[in-house]
Amino acid sequence: MCGIVGYIGNQDVKETILSGLEKLEYRGYDSAGIAILNGNGINIYKDKGRIAHLRNVVDFGVKGTVGIGHTRWATHGKPNKVNSHPHQSSTKRFTLVHNGIIENEDALRLEYLKDTKFESDTDTEVVVQMIQKFVDEGQEVPLAIRYTLTLIEGSYALAILDQENPEVIYVAKNKSPLLIGKGEGFNMVGSDAMAMIHHTNQFYELHDKEFAVITKENITIYNLFGMTINRDYYIGELDATDIEKGTYPHYMLKEIDEQPFVLRRIIANYQNEMGQLSMDENILSAIRQSDRVYIVACGTSYHAGLVGKHLLEKVASKPTEIHVSSEFVYNTPLLSERPFFVFISQSGETADSRAVLVKVKEMGYPTLSITNVKGSTLYRETQYQLLLHAGPEIAVASTKAYTAQIAVLAILACKVAVTCDIDMLKELSIAANVMEALCDNKELYDQLARTYLATTRNCFYIGRHVDYYTCLEAALKLKEISYIQTEGFAAGELKHGTIALIEDNTPVIAIITQEGINLNTRSNIKEVKARGAAVITMSLKRLSSKTDQIIIGDVHEYLAPLVSVIPAQLLSYYAALHRDCDIDKPRNLAKSVTVE
Ligand code: AGP
Ligand code: GLU
Repeated sequence: MCGIVGYIGNQDVKETILSGLEKLEYRGYDSAGIAILNGNGINIYKDKGRIAHLRNVVDFGVKGTVGIGHTRWATHGKPNKVNSHPHQSSTKRFTLVHNGIIENEDALRLEYLKDTKFESDTDTEVVVQMIQKFVDEGQEVPLAIRYTLTLIEGSYALAILDQENPEVIYVAKNKSPLLIGKGEGFNMVGSDAMAMIHHTNQFYELHDKEFAVITKENITIYNLFGMTINRDYYIGELDATDIEKGTYPHYMLKEIDEQPFVLRRIIANYQNEMGQLSMDENILSAIRQSDRVYIVACGTSYHAGLVGKHLLEKVASKPTEIHVSSEFVYNTPLLSERPFFVFISQSGETADSRAVLVKVKEMGYPTLSITNVKGSTLYRETQYQLLLHAGPEIAVASTKAYTAQIAVLAILACKVAVTCDIDMLKELSIAANVMEALCDNKELYDQLARTYLATTRNCFYIGRHVDYYTCLEAALKLKEISYIQTEGFAAGELKHGTIALIEDNTPVIAIITQEGINLNTRSNIKEVKARGAAVITMSLKRLSSKTDQIIIGDVHEYLAPLVSVIPAQLLSYYAALHRDCDIDKPRNLAKSVTVE
């Protein structure tokens, strides 16, 4: 959600910051701004809208070698020019950008800033005004910042400029992500490595409640008591070309197409020298020792967790529960005696999931993260980690991370099992080939989307068993990028109420991959057809009938969700394309949801 980029060095900062912000666009935002510091003072350009618009607002004649930029996803105050970041203190000495939420802003205003005149409606402005106040009262700048940080509650990634000391950027972090990039003769700061990877691959992590002073030559990290923290930098594994669109019109289409390759990469990464699937034995024995696995996740990752529960129970006979993070944190279920927690998160930064992690760590339970981003918050803070190896996922709608999550969960289930009755390596390889064939058939989805989804107001996905889980994911995919109101339904449940919504030409998309219940779903198709629905049926080849529009190559029934989601992803993509939607950056959504 939102982003920060900062640079201090010898080059003019504008292009570095603007293109860094463009790399963070995938995170979702509504406004953007930049502050450039030079010998003549500070220049601020900001407005509601995209970076492309900010480029028109910036005066390219103004030069400077120190700067900070921001994309805002408004939490306090409307998305408009005044509320856009950077914000300044009343004297204009301090300029600041912030990602996160200052939860005690009202109390701070009352206690410290009664006489301050505020320019904006943001919580952020409180921070910059407090720094100014403490400096006015005689504190040194670093102390004033640290003191302010000890008083604020909530989440923050902050980058701060002091007009009277143009040699420094101050940064701080709590809960919201922030990394420091180390260069030769320059240093950077960014919400993630993607914003900096074109300039450096050496990164320092900044942990919660840490503060850093960055000059073009040095990076010094402190805790909030002012004690220096020694930390080594790490080399980011991101490849700059991974984050380019190449010849694709949208990241989403590129990422859908990458899925067979990602699956093969996962197979390769979870293999030992003997060519067998293998996973960290510590993780496997910790899960075996537990009496119940609790999967916790949000959105698409939650849907992958549903499939994961099925796999752990079927393949490994491990009792497994799955919970939505934002519910679990306040409505914690009765836990078993020896629980084991699995956090699934593409970004590794989702605040709702992290809140659960903090809670269960306090209870002393073992935790595993399954994430796509090495070094992300959940990756760092869990006891055990498994990586998705999906490469950066930039489109807001998650596609390749979802199938990667299912693949890693399938391998996990197979390795936890005392005896795995399926040749998982072979079956995953078959699934990769089927995925590839599905991705090669784009005209079909394009044409179906044009016929059934280009103008409809609503749509239903129906399926039974694991197909129901795929329906939930398929419905989320369609609604988030095409804005068609879509529901995923257990096919048998439709007649208990929702069938009332079926009218002439309501699109209903049925998914059939499970033997034994395929005929029941086909009966449900007949029921909706009788009420006028326009039905698209997708089925595994071995269960297909002549009239099915989408035929999916045969895979092991446990792995059907890996492949049946691909036609759904492509239908969503083409529906959004025909409806002229902003596919990679759908309205109101953010890629990593870093507020609870
Ligand atoms: C996916 O298409 C969504 N944009 C969203 O549901 C996402 O999966 C959810 O916010 C969880 O994110 P995470 O996997 O990074 O934790
Ligand atoms: N809470 C701040 C605001 O509404 C920051 C939001 C963000 O993280 O972009 O301006």
